Amino acid sequence: MATSSAFIHTNILDAEQFLREDLSCILETARQIQQLYTLAPDKLYQVLQGRVLASLFFESSTRTRLSFETAMNRLGGRVISTVGFQFSSISKGETLYDTMKMVEAYSDIAVIRHPVEGSSRIASAAIQIPVINAGDGSGQHPTQALLDLYTIQQERGQIDGIRIAFIGDLKFGRTIHSLMKLLYNYEVEMVFISPVDLALPESYRKELGQRGITFAESEDLKEIWDCDVAYITRIQKERFTEQSDYERLKDSYSINRAFLQASRRNTLIMHPLPRVNELSTDVDDLPNAAYFRMASYSVLVRMALLTLCLKAELPVI
Ligand code: CP
Repeated sequence: MATSSAFIHTNILDAEQFLREDLSCILETARQIQQLYTLAPDKLYQVLQGRVLASLFFESSTRTRLSFETAMNRLGGRVISTVGFQFSSISKGETLYDTMKMVEAYSDIAVIRHPVEGSSRIASAAIQIPVINAGDGSGQHPTQALLDLYTIQQERGQIDGIRIAFIGDLKFGRTIHSLMKLLYNYEVEMVFISPVDLALPESYRKELGQRGITFAESEDLKEIWDCDVAYITRIQKERFTEQSDYERLKDSYSINRAFLQASRRNTLIMHPLPRVNELSTDVDDLPNAAYFRMASYSVLVRMALLTLCLKAELPVI
């Protein structure tokens, strides 16, 4: 079993940075926190007491921002935050570099969401404290992928051996791109289902081929019925340069309860949320619909990441 002392990472910028042993360490740390949270929640408040998290969200978020802030609070730390460019001095022309220099003086670790791909790497290069990428444009969202992985492990029992379908906006969906990269560390089969205009970019297809991953591409949603996990995503309106393209594609697919009940494998239904029209609310109370349970998993995984990046120790009970 991996131990926290084996975790060498400081920044979390890209899902590709992790080897399987790192992933085992993160999943095991999240599992230990889950256990501690049940048995001795008060002890968790000592883990990051006196530490400060800078929560920098320059693009909209509900889940990622609130779950990181909850994670820090539950570990006894404090949070400072800025939300949106309009309320930071970036709106007056300040560079991200100068902003990060300030953040370094105020805090022990920073979480950043930014609309520009690569911005978290630029932010981390400016400062010495750990930086966690909470989503950079259509680039990466590694902490979402880590909580997705934890969800699969918790709900299916294991990750190796699964056949997973990725459905929706495969072109712009950073959660899909990040989860794919984590899954390269496991024995899995992947199925990509999307309209042709939102198909997986060629660079990812090439990567899959080079890694010898078994995968298929389709426009047919019925492929879900032969999968253990269906990872459904919305069409990313904010990434389109032509709104007319979004209007043409926005209702390309919609998945409902009756359709999913035809699955031959009791398919686990995941969605990073937010959803729009692609997943009907009549799916919500199916036992295999995991997307609201993912909110609890997200706090545990982000507690694990804050603990590991800050080289803190979990209490022994
Ligand atoms: N899944 C996710 O990143 O959600 P938010 O955009 O609400 O943070």
